[in-house]
Amino acid sequence: MNGESIPTSEDLLKLKEILPAAFIEDKLNLAILKELLGDQVYTEPEVYQLTWAGKAAAYKQVQAPITETFIPVPEASVNWQHTQHVFIEGDNLKVLQVLQNNYQGKVKGIYIDPPYNTGSDSFIYADNFAEKSVRSQANRKQNSHSNWLSMMLTRLFLARQLLREDGIIFVSIDDNELANLKLVMDEVYGEENFIDYFSWAKSETPANLSKKSKKVVEYVLCYQKNKNNEKFQGIRKNSTSSNGLLNQMNKPATLTFPANVVTTRLKDGLLQQGSYGTDSYAIELLADTEVKNGLFVKPVVLKAKFKWSQPKLDKEISKGTNISILTIKLSPSYEKLVYDKEVPPNLINSKVGVGTNENASAELESLFGAKVFDFPKPPSLIKYLLGFSDDPDGIFLDFFAGSGATAQAVLEMNQQDGGNRKYICVQLDEQISPTTKAYQQGYRTISEITRKRLLLLHNKLQAQEGNSTLDTGFRYFKLASSNSKISHQNGTTYEQE
Ligand SMILES: C[S@@+](CC[C@H](N)C(=O)[O-])C[C@H]1O[C@@H](n2cnc3c(N)ncnc32)[C@H](O)[C@@H]1O
Repeated sequence: MNGESIPTSEDLLKLKEILPAAFIEDKLNLAILKELLGDQVYTEPEVYQLTWAGKAAAYKQVQAPITETFIPVPEASVNWQHTQHVFIEGDNLKVLQVLQNNYQGKVKGIYIDPPYNTGSDSFIYADNFAEKSVRSQANRKQNSHSNWLSMMLTRLFLARQLLREDGIIFVSIDDNELANLKLVMDEVYGEENFIDYFSWAKSETPANLSKKSKKVVEYVLCYQKNKNNEKFQGIRKNSTSSNGLLNQMNKPATLTFPANVVTTRLKDGLLQQGSYGTDSYAIELLADTEVKNGLFVKPVVLKAKFKWSQPKLDKEISKGTNISILTIKLSPSYEKLVYDKEVPPNLINSKVGVGTNENASAELESLFGAKVFDFPKPPSLIKYLLGFSDDPDGIFLDFFAGSGATAQAVLEMNQQDGGNRKYICVQLDEQISPTTKAYQQGYRTISEITRKRLLLLHNKLQAQEGNSTLDTGFRYFKLASSNSKISHQNGTTYEQE
């Protein structure tokens, strides 16, 4: 045997004569050989890394050539011509690959709620990543963690490429895969870009299944594509700040404050024109005025060095800004509404306006008129999270859409502040078991439920908004093989608005 050729069976027989202990049934056992050779064997230095069976194959999968495309289905869409929202039915791995063509570096925020790998077969969607052929309990555990990690690695990797440089990703998870998720996200997004494990209070009535702990929280892992100095926005706290209306640098000018606008602490009575103010700032009252019940009931005409012009004062009054002249010095001030950024605490619960699983189920049930989905997330949770680092014109993605909670969150955010956020939701046409309530309601795939929610939301918001310009439509696409002829026109009829 020379240094470059592959060892033949004769070579192995010779080796067996020298080292019989390294063979089991004529097969060389590398682990034993290594033991026998001791420190004569070169070993790679030990490194810190996450490995699992199938990891290399998962990385290869990410680079596989794209053989799919999106087929538009306008007849199953709402307002195809004008809407900017997108719903794609298909396997999110392929969908994320196809999305690279048009959305690389364009997505502001991602929220996903993947299967948690609880091992349960009773949910409406599959949540068991162990292969049936693997028998022993210990091997099944390893096998299911490995499969789950491979599934997540590919998606997280492709998702990162879609994020803008100031993009952010949130991933919901429970204790089954929390530790693995953190490590795989560190690998893909960089440990230095980790923001926090947010704990979400998922239930007011937790199950009593364990003797050790009652599970009232789940987690949301958050990473920025590039962690920066931006201060995150939790709840908006409105406060008022009082500011004087004088500015010593300006020239004296006259302002007329209309009757019944300016509040005061002065007692009821007449105030005569004349000089007020102090030694350092002069204020002249140019006409008599009158106070009644804490209000100037006649116009107040003042000459002083003011910050504002008359048009600016009129505009502020029409906006509802509070103006007051509290003391006999007659120095006016105004109150400004201030939105303070409150950095989000890492516990998310009703204190910050976020509901539970029970709230979300009740909300969904009332929209559909029946229970159609297990453990939906409350839109209030997703709204709150996306608000941490928001862009009212941004694109927001959920590629484990389920019942479509993220679409609802984005629509409601736009409804609240007139924003123009766009959603992209992706959901597999996963078959629904005949034993479920959803099946009895006529749904055959989960993507049918997602689409129905988008329709119901469109109807509901249109009814609330009347003729507003709020975009509540969606373009519906199906993932299909690039060379397949159109697949949706096979007799499917779609329920309309
Ligand atoms: C935990 S649920 C998401 C629930 C959702 N957040 C809600 O509030 O309704 C996970 C969803 O991911 C979907 N899913 C699983 N694998 C998928 C894949 N490869 N592509 C697209 N969707 C997938 C499942 O069908 C399921 O609907």
